[in-house]
Amino acid sequence: MEIVKRPRRNRFSPTRRELIKETRFCAGQLIAPLFIKAGVNQKEPLPSLPGVFSFTADAALKECEELLKLGIGSVILFPIIDKNEKDHDGTKALSRSNHLAKAVQLIKKECPEMVIMVDIALDAYTSHGHDGLIDGSGYVLNDSTNDILADMSVLYGELGVDYVAPSDMMDGRVGKIRKHLDEKKLCNVGILAYTAKYSSAFYGPYRNTLDSAPTIGDKKGYQMDPCNVKEALLEASLDEEEGADMLLVKPALAYLDIIYRIQQTTSLPVGGFHVSGEFAMLKAAAEKGWMNYEKALQECITAIFRSGANFCITYGSKDLAKHI
Ligand code: PBG
Repeated sequence: MEIVKRPRRNRFSPTRRELIKETRFCAGQLIAPLFIKAGVNQKEPLPSLPGVFSFTADAALKECEELLKLGIGSVILFPIIDKNEKDHDGTKALSRSNHLAKAVQLIKKECPEMVIMVDIALDAYTSHGHDGLIDGSGYVLNDSTNDILADMSVLYGELGVDYVAPSDMMDGRVGKIRKHLDEKKLCNVGILAYTAKYSSAFYGPYRNTLDSAPTIGDKKGYQMDPCNVKEALLEASLDEEEGADMLLVKPALAYLDIIYRIQQTTSLPVGGFHVSGEFAMLKAAAEKGWMNYEKALQECITAIFRSGANFCITYGSKDLAKHI
């Protein structure tokens, strides 16, 4: 056969393939999510996220030391709040003495180089599971929720986080948070904005873990419709204008086009959140013997970086770093 162009030539050997690899990522681009619970010296497996654990503040510190050894320099913290600590308005979100606050202070003190991010929203703290304050009809109130998110951001900024990560999708929250941080001279506390956060079925295992599934209605009045692209571009331009430092697309794998599109229009770093359901389905299939978890994970995270992400939040961070 006379074939002049033979693409397989570049695939001939592992070293040839390594030479021309277009997408690479390193452990420093991964953010490990950590679930923080009350108590001392406990690390417990999470039923809906195989291989992922909840940590008390002291155990989270140990985990951070291990992550740093693997080259992972960033964590995002999520609190697990006891049912009897939750209330209608999520008042415990502004507690300065709870386990999340303790974890932030401890990690920053003992591991100052670790980049600490905290998810800013009320869902972990409200009895109804919504990300903000609700009125009698179950409508999530925008502006009064923003007041609390700004206070929460200042609180965590003062405790030492590197980034606050508003995940609520209220309008104008990034601007409000930036203004409040600056008024308190917290100008080095950054904002990782959940910019394009879709109303997704892939948050299931996370909501099981936090016991935060909405008890009234759903989140479609603030999280985005999976059918839409232009809205994501609008959200990105607003977050950028309002002072965000980094933009996040969530979920990531089912929204690679959104990562690609936002990356083309912004001068800010863009990340993807490989969310709980995207992770758990790999584990579930692997448990059934249907595919190899490590290989499938590597492929998924590669896809997120190939689509243009600069960084990635994934529950598989440690597993990936061990093989990089
Ligand atoms: C809270 C929040 C959610 C996630 C991150 N922050 C859930 C939700 O919006 O209901 C999901 C993360 C995951 O599934 O891994 N606003």
